[in-house]
Amino acid sequence: MKTYGEMVQEEVRAALAEERERHEAFVRRGLKLNMARGKPAPEQLDLSLPMLDLLPSQGSSELLRAGAQDDLRNYGGLTGIAAARELMGAIMGVPPSNVLVGGNSSLTLMYNMVSRAMTHGVLGSTPWATLPERPAFLCPVPGYDRHFAICEHFGIRMITVPLGETGPDMEVVEHYVNTDPLIKGIWCVPRFSNPTGIVYSDETVERFAGLSPAAADFRIYWDNAYAVHELVEDSQSAEAPPLLSIGDACERASNSDIWYEFASSSKITFAGSGIAALASSEENSKAITEALGFQTIGPDKLNQERHVLFLPNLDAVHAHMRRHAALIKPKFELVQRVLAEGLAGTGVGSWTRPQGGYFISFDGPPHTARRTVELAAQAGVVLTPAGATYPYGADPLDANIRIAPTYPGLDELQEAAEVFVVCARTAALEQLVKA
Ligand SMILES: Cc1ncc(COP(=O)(O)O)c(C=O)c1O
Repeated sequence: MKTYGEMVQEEVRAALAEERERHEAFVRRGLKLNMARGKPAPEQLDLSLPMLDLLPSQGSSELLRAGAQDDLRNYGGLTGIAAARELMGAIMGVPPSNVLVGGNSSLTLMYNMVSRAMTHGVLGSTPWATLPERPAFLCPVPGYDRHFAICEHFGIRMITVPLGETGPDMEVVEHYVNTDPLIKGIWCVPRFSNPTGIVYSDETVERFAGLSPAAADFRIYWDNAYAVHELVEDSQSAEAPPLLSIGDACERASNSDIWYEFASSSKITFAGSGIAALASSEENSKAITEALGFQTIGPDKLNQERHVLFLPNLDAVHAHMRRHAALIKPKFELVQRVLAEGLAGTGVGSWTRPQGGYFISFDGPPHTARRTVELAAQAGVVLTPAGATYPYGADPLDANIRIAPTYPGLDELQEAAEVFVVCARTAALEQLVKA
């Protein structure tokens, strides 16, 4: 069999006609499938249902006070309850004293950090909103659309940096951060990145820690959203390598204030009803706590207590995550299989094989991603919009598509993946047809 690139025009046209027939057959079936957002499936959420029964509801209010400096039912406890700070610290590899456990969403914590820097600066720096020129963030690509959306919302310029197998291109990062005082931050998803699934290497983490930022208020926004989200059995194997602690590395490099780390239990317990955490140096944490005092009288401590009763330590978290993996690993394997079979011999398309996280990143030939997504929509399959993995939704090659296999059931996923393959092949062949 010839690859698409080897075909003569006549063959390209014949192959395209076949794919169009297949596509048309899917369209006629009136499917309604979704591979767009990285949401846990209902069965994954079921795993955490017992957590809801762990708080006493009658006759034992003592329990809700025991061991806590404050009554869990009342105002107070700005930085979160001690046991929750310990739990989230263990997940992030940070001492609990440097961890703040907030509300239900780490994205909110990230937004808050950017928002405060815009209006109040960082540890006494000029508020970014009053700078004579717009501040900028480095954005490793492909990346997480909601990070980019925060920047866009505040008018922060975005500069893309290629993301490779071991992390962002550090030559580029060092060049910008160390020379340009308008570079105020970089978005990182260091373990099982969204969407490529790569894990930053030790060398990458050390190079981050060794930055010499031109701006004193530059910070690394270390979004460790998938810290414990392995698909493989062994959480620290060569397949799913551990991540060096950015906090420790920065401390060693005498750069203790340049990092903020974020995490949440959104994809451990309940997405949207979990607990979220922010860790940083002592000095940053002090300033963050002070600022937070203007925003809230305290977080939802009952939810924090529920979480620590359900997941008392890191071993319990790993055991729980293995149950998640048992549910979603077959979905990742299915998509891998359908892509490999469906694109075999065509010479088009490459995709990642992550050992954790929530996504597979697919690259088609240039100028095919939008068309693939459009064709899939016609056949009733919703995909993440093409371009979403780039700032401003603009993928310069129009090649990257984020595949999110976790939410649909296996049968639905099989169909959706088959539709995807037909659409990717169709879009690739269309590019080869000469007018
Ligand atoms: C990299 C990354 N960070 C943050 C989030 C959202 O986290 P949270 O639910 O804690 O706001 C997601 C959700 O998909 C994500 O992929």
